[in-house]
Amino acid sequence: MQERLQKVLSRAGVASRRKAEELMLAGKVTVNGKKATELGTKVDAARDEIRVNGALVADIAERVTFVLFKPAGCVTTLSDPEGRSTIADYLKGVSERVFPVGRLDYDAEGALLVTNDGELANRLMHPKFGARRTYLAKVKGEPTDGELAKLRAGVRLDDGLARPLEVERMEKAEKNTWVRLVLSEGRPHLVKRLCEAIGHPVVRLFRASYAGIGVEGMMPGERRELSRAEVRGLYAGRGPEARVQLPPRRDARRRAPRRR
Ligand code: URA
Repeated sequence: MQERLQKVLSRAGVASRRKAEELMLAGKVTVNGKKATELGTKVDAARDEIRVNGALVADIAERVTFVLFKPAGCVTTLSDPEGRSTIADYLKGVSERVFPVGRLDYDAEGALLVTNDGELANRLMHPKFGARRTYLAKVKGEPTDGELAKLRAGVRLDDGLARPLEVERMEKAEKNTWVRLVLSEGRPHLVKRLCEAIGHPVVRLFRASYAGIGVEGMMPGERRELSRAEVRGLYAGRGPEARVQLPPRRDARRRAPRRR
């Protein structure tokens, strides 16, 4: 079936139609090895070899990205030699070979992106792109304004200085306090080490969002596939700012993985 090239490109998730036209005009799109700069170009998506910046559009169309509400008590890998629960338990029915974008600790919960798109994963994890990770940490006691200011100023840890983009007291619990921290890097146990450094160890850790993709309205163990527009936003480095809400209470948390 012959269709306009820009329509095929936007359906494959490469770009919006208008952006696809810009890519064509800029000579970034080839059809069977030839630059397609005419906006009236028609193609047969099933037969023609269409490439954008050298990448096959057929491959791009097969890219999937999910946000998983990783529950606590589960390892961020696809198999565990010790037989513990892994994120694979919550990815049943996903046929693509997906992998997690970074890690959340075994006892941490919240937004974990999972994808088969290596290029996107690289962007999201690379310090150069500085993807925002928003955490809510329930810490022991009640940090003072001075202690929170110390966090904001940056803390020298054994693997170098770490400086959150934002730190804010969110809510006082009985003996603990919820603190919101926004980080732009993903070193191991970073939030726990930062809070420990000001004398308030983390007792519960929830990642509300990663690069603007949050788990608001989801329950632990649930996943949602991102729309093409959301993925394009991630590529463009303009994720929406997800609303930040405390996670569901612990007693509401245990939920069997969905069978799909
Ligand atoms: N910081 C931590 O301490 N643990 C995580 O899983 C993520 C960030």
